[in-house]
Amino acid sequence: TAVLHCQNVFLKISFSFLKQKVFLLLVCVTVVWSDTPGNCLYEDIRGTWTFQETERSGDSSLSCDELGPVVHTKTFTLSFPDTATDELGNEGTWTLIYNQGFEININERSYFAFSYYEGDWLEVTSYCDRTFNGWSRDKTVRNWSCFSAQKNTKVAPRVTRRPVQRNADAPYKNDRDLVRKINDRQTSWTARVYPEDEKYTVGEMYQRAGGLASTLPTRPSPAPATPEQRARVSLLPKSFDWRNVSGESYVSPVRDQGGCGSCYAFASMANLEAQVRIATRNQRQDVFSPQDVVSCSVLAQGCMGGFDYLIAGRYAMDQGVVAEECNPYDGSDSQCDTDTACAKTYVSEYVHVGGYYGACNEELMLQALVETGPISVSFEVYDDFRNYNGGIYHHTGLKNDFNPFEITNHVVLVVGYGADEATGEKYWIVKNSWGANWGEDGFFRIRRGTDECSLESMAVQVTIIP
Ligand SMILES: *[C@@H]1O[C@H](CO)[C@@H](O)[C@H](O)[C@H]1NC(C)=O
Ligand SMILES: *[C@@H]1O[C@H](CO)[C@@H](O)[C@H](O)[C@H]1NC(C)=O
Repeated sequence: TAVLHCQNVFLKISFSFLKQKVFLLLVCVTVVWSDTPGNCLYEDIRGTWTFQETERSGDSSLSCDELGPVVHTKTFTLSFPDTATDELGNEGTWTLIYNQGFEININERSYFAFSYYEGDWLEVTSYCDRTFNGWSRDKTVRNWSCFSAQKNTKVAPRVTRRPVQRNADAPYKNDRDLVRKINDRQTSWTARVYPEDEKYTVGEMYQRAGGLASTLPTRPSPAPATPEQRARVSLLPKSFDWRNVSGESYVSPVRDQGGCGSCYAFASMANLEAQVRIATRNQRQDVFSPQDVVSCSVLAQGCMGGFDYLIAGRYAMDQGVVAEECNPYDGSDSQCDTDTACAKTYVSEYVHVGGYYGACNEELMLQALVETGPISVSFEVYDDFRNYNGGIYHHTGLKNDFNPFEITNHVVLVVGYGADEATGEKYWIVKNSWGANWGEDGFFRIRRGTDECSLESMAVQVTIIP
């Protein structure tokens, strides 16, 4: 999903040594984290909020670092599952963005802000009853304003502590024993050693996999399918692959994100690239710039991560995306220097599959995939996944030494589905961003219908303006 980043911190450890002498030992460690460290949950956000909003006279370059004079005060009540109601009784919708913030769409305007927090990944206090300054604009993306929001009822601050990862700067080593175990103990998928991964540090390998997962007490399970959803799915083909629709591929080439936690940007660009190909019957075969997102978007955290909903969706609607050559990938948190003369490509709509975060399931994903094109998804990367070679992946749990950094949050693009002819095991076909040499030509297959590694919990679909 998201994503991650690295920050050097110094741990001060004092030792008493030889009677009265005290030495301060400075140990450099690296913290890998994902997204913002904030951690706000559905029940924290549900309820009634007061929004303080500035004049609606800005454009898409509006910075909301400073709020400015407030001219609109709005009251929005966010209720289950996704209904937003204003003080006049007008209705709209809202969604959580994972545990990071929320978006409201009401009265032809859209509001987004990150939930407020203080601290950093090691120790953060989330104040889920208020937001950082957020951005609001109308549906036509013309009239922008800033806002800040405060919930009308208090939410107790939530302190989250995460462990320091001590070996992040050490060179990464393939776990050859794990690879052997995977190949010995099950036949669904095969593992292999990737010697080229050993150019990365342990910390970079975590970034590559989306960074440390947010420690959510619960993630939504897939919403149960309704009879109507099942009936619609029964009309879909038994297998489908956007890489081969009557001999044509609508999927752009596989790329490599390197050691930066930019999976969300690659998955978002891959989503938009496929949408452009489908909408233009392959007349346009754009490759978009993930670096523009990493360096320029205020809706993500650069190499520390971000969300496809906010990038393939909101960023592509608000700011538009540009071609790779307008800001070539350097895999770092470089200054924003996208060529401003470059043409932009936009989306007109974006949505969590099912309508809001929490509504996703296999049936809705199948339908969205076939009817609208590839969809980006987030899932949890366990250690065994790095060594995936081919077959239908499931988490083996064969690496059982407890490691709090083991689970990471990765964003990728689902491009098809099928079932194994011999075993009947159902799978998704998914495009990764670890180069074409990884897995099945840069793709992997993963168990379908069981929310494997939470892959069916948070899919995003967009409508491109070709
Ligand atoms: C909305 O934007 C248009 C075009 O930029 C501008 O002419 C208009 O004054 C704006 N409306 C408000 C309420 O600021
Ligand atoms: C695409 O699918 C068709 C029908 O299943 C198959 O005959 C063909 O070889 C495939 N093409 C490619 C490039 O994989």
